[in-house]
Amino acid sequence: MTAAVTVAQIREPAAMRAAVLESRAAGRRVGFVPTMGALHAGHASLVEQAALECDDVVVSIFVNPSQFGPTEDFARYPRTLAADAALLAPRGVRWIFVPEAADMYPPGAATRVVVDGPARRFEGEIRPGHFAGVATVVCRLFHCVPADVAYFGAKDWQQTLVVKRMVHDLGLPIEIAVCPTVREADGLAMSSRNAYLAAEERRRAVALHEGLCAAERLWQSGGAVAAVEQAIRDPLETRGIAIDYAAVVAADTLEPLPAAGAQPPAIAIVAGRLGGTRLIDNRLLPPRRRPG
Ligand code: PAF
Repeated sequence: MTAAVTVAQIREPAAMRAAVLESRAAGRRVGFVPTMGALHAGHASLVEQAALECDDVVVSIFVNPSQFGPTEDFARYPRTLAADAALLAPRGVRWIFVPEAADMYPPGAATRVVVDGPARRFEGEIRPGHFAGVATVVCRLFHCVPADVAYFGAKDWQQTLVVKRMVHDLGLPIEIAVCPTVREADGLAMSSRNAYLAAEERRRAVALHEGLCAAERLWQSGGAVAAVEQAIRDPLETRGIAIDYAAVVAADTLEPLPAAGAQPPAIAIVAGRLGGTRLIDNRLLPPRRRPG
């Protein structure tokens, strides 16, 4: 009988930092996957990529209170540590970092990392303070886990831009790798929040993916930006999904595309609400065959 593989869990930031520094001092490349737990195949793909490229992989699991608004789902966010550890064990993870809130935010904590630029629009407008919470905790996590490279999923595209901006602006010594979105068989992007969807909501949720695919087709055939944005909206409207935004913008800044001249890479982004569940998704758009 083979013994079950278990992964060492570290709670103390100082112990976590010491372990990573020791590994790097021995010439090992360390990869880091920050998460809030409730792990799914999307997280597994980040971990697998990290394991391919690095000698040691660290996964953090911390449901970060400061990135949730007062009316959001912090209290009910799924906490599934045993299942998460079981998913990570066979994937070559060396350490799981599981800090407590008091380890991440000492009593009286009064410091926040506030990113402007890519954090301003979309999620930044709809969830005030969200990206300050993300940037603050990611900055703190990068101090606790001083890895060579950190892996983030493209599903949270705006988050990846915010993290890259912060790393660049603060000169943090870590590379950022962005990995492709993993999808369910019908195209719905994997998300820990999919677990909130009732069966009937789950069936309708595929509309986000359908809208983005329709947008890409129209984009490729030269549709104007407004028409491409409407193509994202159509399946959501048909299925009664409340739309927070549906837009085609510059992929690197999330600013509007220039009306004329050289076109930067574009991305279609969408956020919708089904009952109490908020879902986001995006699709990088290929260079245009002809301008719209
Ligand atoms: O993407 C997430 O799971 C979180 O926003 C992160 C990056 C772990 C910060 O809490």
